[in-house]
Amino acid sequence: MADDTFCDVEKMVNDGLHSMVLAIGYKVGIVTVIMDSVEPCTAEEISIKANLNKRYVEEWLICMTAKGVVKIDDGKYYFPNKKQIREAAFISTMLPIFAECFPNLENVMKNKTENKGYPFSQKALVWEGQYKELSSFHDVTWLEYNIKPVINAYFIDRKINAETFNILDFGCGYGKLAFSLAKTYSNGLIWGVDIDEVAIDACRNKAQKTSCSNVFFEKIVGNMPDFWKDKHDKFDIIIMSDVLHDLPDPNTIMANFRIILKPGGYVITFDPPVYSDHKKNVGYKDAIEFMPYSLFTCLPNSMSQKPAIGHGIGWGFEDKLKYIESQGFQVLALDGEDVKFPKWRIVFKKSV
Ligand SMILES: C[S@@+](CC[C@H](N)C(=O)[O-])C[C@H]1O[C@@H](n2cnc3c(N)ncnc32)[C@H](O)[C@@H]1O
Repeated sequence: MADDTFCDVEKMVNDGLHSMVLAIGYKVGIVTVIMDSVEPCTAEEISIKANLNKRYVEEWLICMTAKGVVKIDDGKYYFPNKKQIREAAFISTMLPIFAECFPNLENVMKNKTENKGYPFSQKALVWEGQYKELSSFHDVTWLEYNIKPVINAYFIDRKINAETFNILDFGCGYGKLAFSLAKTYSNGLIWGVDIDEVAIDACRNKAQKTSCSNVFFEKIVGNMPDFWKDKHDKFDIIIMSDVLHDLPDPNTIMANFRIILKPGGYVITFDPPVYSDHKKNVGYKDAIEFMPYSLFTCLPNSMSQKPAIGHGIGWGFEDKLKYIESQGFQVLALDGEDVKFPKWRIVFKKSV
């Protein structure tokens, strides 16, 4: 019987090599020059505009033309599909960041006696922030589908019409979500917190520059001991976007959430919806797309400190649901959705 999940491994490896070529082209500016040119360009024109050595530019163009990423007509080069290439070329720049993880990853994989890992690198976090800015993640339309129905359900559930309300974006990174929330909900006060100081500084600078007065950023240490002290019953909504599966000590964080959430407050977590049952991931788009990030960054981060729980994206949806309930929360079915069906968003509140 033919196996339709068979992977052409040779092609996969060759595609990986071409992705590296795309990544260097993006880094040195060739991709942007071709992208921004209204008309197709010669190699010489591209090398002048990108301020690069012409011979290297030619080699890059031969490589990408052979693969079909770049098209050639009358000795002039262009992209056939600019929209797709802009985002894909940016994503390819994660490859050298993965490559830099190799020595650390080798070490922790060889440690059979203890679960060890390493925190997100600065480069990986900057990449994530830039990716969010470039993509439609966390923009106004995204909020409309992913956050607004939850906030509406929360107010209906609590039978209140809040004049103002407090949202915590836990693990906010470079802050696109926090800023979008602040812009959309002028009657909301938004707190973004993260353990990464550089990201928090960047968010604060942006808040100052944009005169955004309803968003606040705070660096937290470890499992937020200082942050939560004066914030009992403070938050209506807590959001974790791409964070829960990364945490080395989620039990302590979830216990703190129970303290800082208002009675009846909601938590929203977003994680790639990979199955916990490995067999179901065979050929499954989201597992194929997101698992490489987990091996190089998410899983090591969730093993970077004790108790080094080691969730990562491969933890999966079914086990995450059981975990949330084991921590004293009740998973909510909004608009009658099937809570057992894997999806990015899970909404929950304290069990009574
Ligand atoms: C994958 S990034 C997601 C960033 C952002 N939420 C987004 O969606 O773009 C994970 C974030 O969680 C933060 N993080 C990891 N462990 C944390 C902890 N114990 N407390 C707070 N933030 C943490 C990281 O610094 C990083 O910014």
